[in-house]
Amino acid sequence: MKFKNFLIAAVCISAVNFFANAVEAEESMKSDFRPVNALGLGEYNLEFNPIGFDSRTAEIEGKSISFRAYENIVYVKNPKNAQYQSLNIYIPQNYLDGKSINGYTSKTAPIFMPTGVGGYMPSLAQTPDDRMGGSTILKALERGYVVVSPAIRGRTTVADSDSKLYVGKAPAFVVDFKAAVRFLRANRDRLPAGDVEKIVSNGTSAGGALSALLGATGNAPDYEKYLREIGAAQERDDIFASSDYCPITNLDHADAAYEWIFHDVLEAHQSNRQAPPPDMKNPPPDDSKKDRPMNAPVENQSATPLTDIEKKVSDILRAEFPIYVNSLGLKDPSTGELLLLDANGEGSFKNFVKSKYIESAQDALNSGESLKDLDWIVLNGKKVVDVDLDKYAVYATRMKAPPAFDKLDLSSGENDEFATESNEPRHFTRTSKIHETKSGEIADADQIRLMNPMNFIGREDVQVAKHFRIRHGAIDRDTSLAIPSILALKLMNSGIDVDFYSPWNRGHAGDYDLPELFDWIDSICK
Ligand code: DHB
Repeated sequence: MKFKNFLIAAVCISAVNFFANAVEAEESMKSDFRPVNALGLGEYNLEFNPIGFDSRTAEIEGKSISFRAYENIVYVKNPKNAQYQSLNIYIPQNYLDGKSINGYTSKTAPIFMPTGVGGYMPSLAQTPDDRMGGSTILKALERGYVVVSPAIRGRTTVADSDSKLYVGKAPAFVVDFKAAVRFLRANRDRLPAGDVEKIVSNGTSAGGALSALLGATGNAPDYEKYLREIGAAQERDDIFASSDYCPITNLDHADAAYEWIFHDVLEAHQSNRQAPPPDMKNPPPDDSKKDRPMNAPVENQSATPLTDIEKKVSDILRAEFPIYVNSLGLKDPSTGELLLLDANGEGSFKNFVKSKYIESAQDALNSGESLKDLDWIVLNGKKVVDVDLDKYAVYATRMKAPPAFDKLDLSSGENDEFATESNEPRHFTRTSKIHETKSGEIADADQIRLMNPMNFIGREDVQVAKHFRIRHGAIDRDTSLAIPSILALKLMNSGIDVDFYSPWNRGHAGDYDLPELFDWIDSICK
């Protein structure tokens, strides 16, 4: 099956047989992959070749876009898996004809770097005719951006040389994104267009976490040994700006943040069914929701009650959250007030999180939406004066059973992301290790640390991106709104420009407001 067809199919197939298809697609792609810069013996030439391109034209919303395509360039000298460490570059034709677009020239055009990573799975380099991601590339080209899409290793990636070796576990995804940035910088004088000092990353969910991590860890020496191991270019890897949709980040505190909001909701929608074998005579009816991003955990229409042990762990996690928040010393960016929580989870930090829902609801009201039937919103005439987070949790419903990410039976995608090279899933929190129902190791402390942007923001030896745009939909409950809030606050408190917003009625999704995203890019680049 071709990957493009696979993408179309992936949205339609039931979650039950998803993983089998994913593996099949990866297998078939391997044989199709023709890198343009192989030197032999698993080595690749990092000198970009400006001659090796295709000229193409594509249609988007009735307009035709002409661009130059450079594809299948391996971005490290010694890849673990060449196809998953390759990138594609697309350049608007106008720049090659000496023209300008949207006020940019070939020298000043921002470089937009989207990642297709989802669910901590690997992603191929995206192309303009991909069903998912393709239109984002074309619209970015139309705006005058050079687009660079890197393939990125993920939790199921195996080595080219030895298929039993899992080479994409944490922190490989961010190591690869950094290596792709370094490749561009090393080739700044060979690239026909694009300003390597105006790189803007973009991703959704696990890809949003990746984009945030890339933005927060510029030039951090901590990743150097991983970058050397794959022969990344000796260059800087800081970026200009980071766009992060619903980032599934700060995984080591996300379980506690989840229970802070959803503790009293005693049933969960996440599917815990194992995929039935493909030849099973009467598989259970497919109850999964179809509007989820590719590779996100499966959500059922129906809910399952929490077990006693899940309820007990929820109590523990909820009590952990105020301790974590108070340890951060976050401040309200407008008043300078410390953002804290008492042992019951009440306090100024909660007011900050509420303010994001209030802002979103007010915008919905202003645009003519009726909120009067929503019992979690407190209205005074045409003003949203408060939100009740307990009622919100009931309204939004609980997606994940506790612990939301570090599962007691090691069954989550995140447990797999932190797995060993031989693919044994691992924990990444002490609480889940202590209460585990299936025995497993805890991941190396360093591996956990290198996955969390919170550990890098504010460090003197790290160049954090100057600009962040963070979005988390008002009904997204793949992670708690507290998680992107903490990220945004930490960034703002260290002087970074952050545009942080919770769009009304928006669930777990990304790229839904590209005109606004591109306006933001233009506002910071011009
Ligand atoms: C994604 C969603 C999740 O809920 C999660 O735990 C990990 C990844 C995703 O959509 O990428």
